[in-house]
Parts: sequence; structure tokens; C-alpha cells
Amino acid sequence: AGPCDIYSSGGTPCVAAHSTTRALYSAYSRPLYQVKRGSDGATSDISPLSAGGVANAAAQDSFCSGTTCLITVIYDQSGHNSHLTQAPPGGAASGGDVGGYDFPVTAIGAPVTLNGQKVYGVFISPGTGYRNNEANGTAVGDESEGMYAVFDGTHYNGGCCFDYGNAETNNLDTGDGHMEAIYFGLGTGYGVGGGSGPWVLADLENGLYTDSRVSVNPSNPSITSRFVTAVVKGNNNNQWAVRGGDAVSGSLSTYYSGIRPTNGDYNPMQKEGAIILGIGGDNSNWAQGTFYEGVMTTGYPSDDTENRVQADIVAAKYAIGTMNSGPALTVGSTITLRATTSCCTTRYLAHTGDAVNTQVVSSSSSTALKQQASWAVRTGLGNSACYSFESVDTPGSFIRHSNFQLYVHSNDGSKLFGEDATFCTQAGLNGQGSSIRSWNYPAHYIRHFNALGYAASNGGPKEFESATLFNDDVSWVAGSGF
Ligand code: AHR
Ligand code: AHR
Repeated sequence: AGPCDIYSSGGTPCVAAHSTTRALYSAYSRPLYQVKRGSDGATSDISPLSAGGVANAAAQDSFCSGTTCLITVIYDQSGHNSHLTQAPPGGAASGGDVGGYDFPVTAIGAPVTLNGQKVYGVFISPGTGYRNNEANGTAVGDESEGMYAVFDGTHYNGGCCFDYGNAETNNLDTGDGHMEAIYFGLGTGYGVGGGSGPWVLADLENGLYTDSRVSVNPSNPSITSRFVTAVVKGNNNNQWAVRGGDAVSGSLSTYYSGIRPTNGDYNPMQKEGAIILGIGGDNSNWAQGTFYEGVMTTGYPSDDTENRVQADIVAAKYAIGTMNSGPALTVGSTITLRATTSCCTTRYLAHTGDAVNTQVVSSSSSTALKQQASWAVRTGLGNSACYSFESVDTPGSFIRHSNFQLYVHSNDGSKLFGEDATFCTQAGLNGQGSSIRSWNYPAHYIRHFNALGYAASNGGPKEFESATLFNDDVSWVAGSGF
């Protein structure tokens, strides 16, 4: 049985079920998600390998070979047609895509395995997010509901709001109690858990909560596991709960079960029934996190039902996937990165001061110029499965993106710096060498454009994101020096 079969047998069936990794019903064999590729704009549905099985990631890899792909739809498996698509602009923020929509995510940002088989999660960067304002069957008003989601416990920030669950239907903050969603991250200064986070909290609108107060709930622990199961539920009798656990082993703990927060207008709830992923109710889109699977139910699931869902998640065996592919880089080695666009095959990724650029370098160049174009490969500062590139002539400084331009900046030790300075590799999109994508914005690749370095998406809104020559501009041949 899948999670939604378990909820059904508990009398609280799923009314929405989303996952890019697997079917959430044992009989489900229809599409899980849709990808759209950069080369020609064509779309393809990715389905389970078999009914109830894991996603056919190989179909995605082959459809997206030699180009980029975005996740454009996450289908609702429950039959309620509550599919998730790019989130529209809201009261707090507009996205950067056409019409102020948030960007969709790249399809390759979150590779994992389920029982040894490769699949992809939904890697939410700030500015990306999904929504459905016309969901069917989700709780409205003070109706009861349950939710769970599986997240990456190591991918989070303190921006508002990495949520999955029930939100406003008009993209606006319509007041306390108009949301009931699972939140994961460092919180925004309302209720928090023990330690320094991240935590599983509930976004009830105008506040992230862990109990009935705006304070520390020491029973809600900082999450340390790579995969986390997060549960929020609320009923029509001023009762709600936050639960969580390691999605790979063990059982769920109840972090809180009791009355609604008393500091605002949370009882009765005034849920609106839209579904959000990766954003806040008013399209606050500054958060990051990774979603693998999640559902919303009708009725208030019993702890026992949720415990059986957790056992099913554990049996699915989430494990880390391979972040790098294509030509291997060796941590500790010093490399050069030669451009492959026909204009520029004598140019190398280099820097002048703090600006990353390309420069023509050869064996007869000065030592200073050769060093400006040489990079020490380091373990990724923000994710040890990927890489950082330390400047050879400025030790302690690394290539990082800021506002999607590349700089060589001194490592200030912050979480944001480490993440901005972490890149993962794959075979060059034009068939030569490697393409090098940002870890925290994996739709963005190291690109040269007018001889400057950028973290560019394929066909994005900025001039340096032009689809023309994108594959060539993001393909670099790594060498061992001059
Ligand atoms: O409750 C936290 C956030 O506050 C909500 O997600 C958003 O709608 C509002 O800005
Ligand atoms: O480059 C994109 C983002 O811009 C970086 O993550 C951040 O440092 C800056 O705000």
C-alpha cells in the first residue's frame, strides 16, 4: 500500500497527492510530473516505472539530454485535478518570470535514490514556487485536514516561506488562520523549536507556529537528518498537531498536540483551500528547500495512520543521489576552464579583481594572467557532494554568484556565501567538457557572456540568459594548466 492507501484505510483519504519521486497509491500509474525542455519548448510527462512504483527518471534524462529541463507541472495523484504549476504573483512578491510568476525549478536539482533507483525531487530556490488556487476537496473554513511531506533536512534558509499545504486562493495575506501549511526552515521569528534549527513548523498565516504560543517549544527539535518527514494537522475542534521524524528510519514524534495559537485569530480557522509549494500564502518567495512527496487529506488523521505512513516512507528507502556527472574533477587539483563557444576557444574562465570574466591565455602569457585563470578545486563549501573553485592568486577567495553575476570574493564563512560558491558538474550541454551549475540555483550555470561570468538560466529574462549560444557558453573544457 502507498501513503494514500493508508490514509484511506484510516478513514482520512488524500484529497491531494504530489510527488516527483514515486506513486503515492499502489495502483497509481498515470503521470507524476511534466518537464519542459529548453531546446525546443517541448513537454513530456514522467510516469512511474510501474503502478505504485518510482518515477521513470531515465525517461526524463533522455528527453532532457543535451539541454535543460524545468518541472512545469506536478500532477495531483488523488484524482482531484489539483495539479501544481508556476505560482502567480502575490501580495508580498512577484516572481521574475513572465507575468510576475515565480520560476519553475530545474528538473535535476535534487537527485536521490528510492530503493536504489534514481529519481528527482523538487529543489526550490528563492524565486521558484508552485500553486493551485482552484484545488478541489481540500479543507476550507474550520474543516479538518492532515498533511505530510518529505523534505531534504539539509536544504533550508530563513526566508519566508518554504511551505507545502493549505493557503489563500487570491495570493494575498487575508489574515490569521487563512493558511494551514507545513513549513521547514529557520523560521521567521514567531514560534521556533529547540536548538538553532531548522525546524518543522506550521504556517498558519502571519506566523510560523510550533504550539499555542509565540515562543520556544523545546519538544520540537532541530532537524539533523538528511531526509525529514514533516506532519501538520488541524481539526474543527481547536485541536492541531506538529509531528516529525527521520524519513529514512524510526518513527514519528509528536512535537505538539493541543489548542491553536492564542495570540491571534486562529480559532476557528478560516482555511481557503488553495495549495502552495515552496512559497508563503502571499507568494513570499525568498525560501529554499527540497520537496520529494506530500499529501493533504480530508479529516483529521490518527497518529496511528500517520505512523503507518511513516513506515511506508521508510520502506521507500530515500538515499542521497549523485550530484556530479560528466568528466570528473579532483578535489585538490588546480584546473583551467576553457570556453567552447566558437568565438572564444582561446579564452579561459578568469578574474580581474573581483569580476569573473574570460581572458585569452596561452603558454606564453604572464604568470600573473595564468594564475588569474587557474582555480583550485575544493570540496563544495555549501554541499560537500559538489565543488567550490578557489582563486589560485587569491587564496581564501572563491567563485561565487551574487545577483547571478560571478565574482571572486573572500569566504566570509556564512551559509549564504558557501551556498553561492558551490557548483555541481555534468557533461557539457554542447557535448564538450563540463557544464557547471550552481548548487543553490541549479537552473543557473556558469556562463560567459560578452566576456563576463554569470550564473545564467537557459532563456531566462536577463540579457545574459539568452537562449542563443546557451549550450556553448555553459560548456567548459577542464584542463590541468598552461
Ligand atoms: O505566516 C508567514 C507568512 O506571512 C505567510 O506565509 C505569508 O502569507 C505572510 O507573509
Ligand atoms: O546570485 C543570486 C543571489 O543573489 C545570491 O544567492 C545572493 O547572494 C544574491 O542576493
